[in-house]
Amino acid sequence: MNKKIHLLVVGLLALVACQQTSKTSEIITGRGIEAPNGMLASAHPLASKAGAEILAQGGNAFDAAVCVHFALAVVYPRAGNIGGGGFAVYRKNNGETGTLDFREKAPLQASRNMYLDSMQNVIPDLSSTGALSVGVPGSVQGMIDLHKKLGTIAFENLIEPAIKLAENGFAITKDEADKLNSYQEAFIKANGTAMYFVKNWQAGDTMHLPALAKTLKAIQKNGRDGFYKGDVAAAMLKKMNEKAGIITQADLDAYKTVWRKPIEIFYKNYKVISMPPPSSGGIALAQLLKGSENFDWKASGHNSAATIHFTTELQRRVYADRASYLGDPDFYPVPQQMLLDSTYLAQRFENIKLNKKTNSSDIKEGSVEIIESIETTHFSIVDKQGNAIAITTTLNGNYGSKVFVENAGFFLNNEMDDFSVKPGVPNQFGLIGAEANAIAPQKRMLSSMTPTILEKNNELFMVVGTPGGATIITLVYQAIINVIEYDMDIQQAVDAKKTHSQWLPDIILYEENGLDSSIIKNLNQMGHVLELRPYIGKLDAVLVLSNGMLQGGSDPRGDDISAGVK
Ligand code: GLY
Repeated sequence: MNKKIHLLVVGLLALVACQQTSKTSEIITGRGIEAPNGMLASAHPLASKAGAEILAQGGNAFDAAVCVHFALAVVYPRAGNIGGGGFAVYRKNNGETGTLDFREKAPLQASRNMYLDSMQNVIPDLSSTGALSVGVPGSVQGMIDLHKKLGTIAFENLIEPAIKLAENGFAITKDEADKLNSYQEAFIKANGTAMYFVKNWQAGDTMHLPALAKTLKAIQKNGRDGFYKGDVAAAMLKKMNEKAGIITQADLDAYKTVWRKPIEIFYKNYKVISMPPPSSGGIALAQLLKGSENFDWKASGHNSAATIHFTTELQRRVYADRASYLGDPDFYPVPQQMLLDSTYLAQRFENIKLNKKTNSSDIKEGSVEIIESIETTHFSIVDKQGNAIAITTTLNGNYGSKVFVENAGFFLNNEMDDFSVKPGVPNQFGLIGAEANAIAPQKRMLSSMTPTILEKNNELFMVVGTPGGATIITLVYQAIINVIEYDMDIQQAVDAKKTHSQWLPDIILYEENGLDSSIIKNLNQMGHVLELRPYIGKLDAVLVLSNGMLQGGSDPRGDDISAGVK
């Protein structure tokens, strides 16, 4: 069949599927909602709705994921992206699992010491803002490859909702207006005052992104070549030339995604399926869960001083391993088997005392400053056939490098900062690294993104993930524990106040109104130092209930909303 006839047939089939289901399918949106025929949770109501419409039209979870990813690239510019990258973890309804790595790569001209001055000192901000902080984007190739392997509806139809949103415009939320206003100086510094996003934004203002619509149409028409070649590539490379970036056409031509074997472990009778390196997420989550199996969660109590002390002690050991051993497995022999070995883990955690803090400096040396709250975005989807996908995708910082490709309408990432720019020196999350995560051309930078799927007794049980840089791993861990050990429904698990610690800096973060003063006092007496954050993470998850209903949990810390198909 030639390509045009094939597209026509696929389009007609989608139309028929739509007509068949539209009589019975009703889309509902909200937090903590339940529906039998599909559920997803994402960071933006318009993206959730677009994805649910694909599910209602008979698309599967993977079709909906492609649609949501492109929709977020329009309506959630701080983290939704085509100029960044991410990871997908999937489980088909026949139990087959897999992951797609569409993480950015270091440019061919990147080098180990590219962010150091002649005295070998780190040049402030060079790895985190501006054109030199940009990794070769992977999101567009990721969505194309995901669709090719797992999708059922024509790619053209899945990107169409994003094109409409960019072309027709949409009202921005208060949260987005506040965020845009707080980055005005950074936008001007990276792009000058003529840039589209430079203005005083109000909730309800209409955002029009015609250049982005044009780019999305090029991808719709030409697939990979619509982004990595032609006018869009030329606009990206022009920006690189103007701003002293190092990405070239050779980098764009060389970009490839990788299908990787998931990290799979059992926590009691739950199988946990998560992202392998170059994400640290799956291994670190697995270490945390394996280290928690014998802990009496109920007796210790949710968010009690004893529980927070225990998880902090686990976390400082796990994040110390992360810093030493984890990096891109295509470049560094990550000792994955050893890190998940039960004897190794038993030894690693055996010196945890239930009433006394270990100093992080006694675990491993390092000098670390602060952790900043940071953006990425996650969405979780389950369709009515029981296919599931968890995608976490990112520009790294809010609006990435802040470098905006005007002629093509999108921000470029600042993912190079996720490399260890110098051993022992922290990145923007306060994470330190070593040889495993040193910069090399074409290498992928270590990530904390932890898109995760759980099975219970061989059946799909939960899909979960969150943004939040270094805090991603501990947030996913707490969400899982909240559901499994504290019998919370998915919305309660998402809503519950969270804490975070990561070896270095040697502190515990807690959320506003998260811990009462007696718990803080108790932790202080054990030697812990606590720091307040307005919020930590933004979980979006789906739970499969025992009666088969799908429950959506979407985080009230943002505009996140679940959308389900009745
Ligand atoms: N850029 C955040 C992460 O990959 O962990």
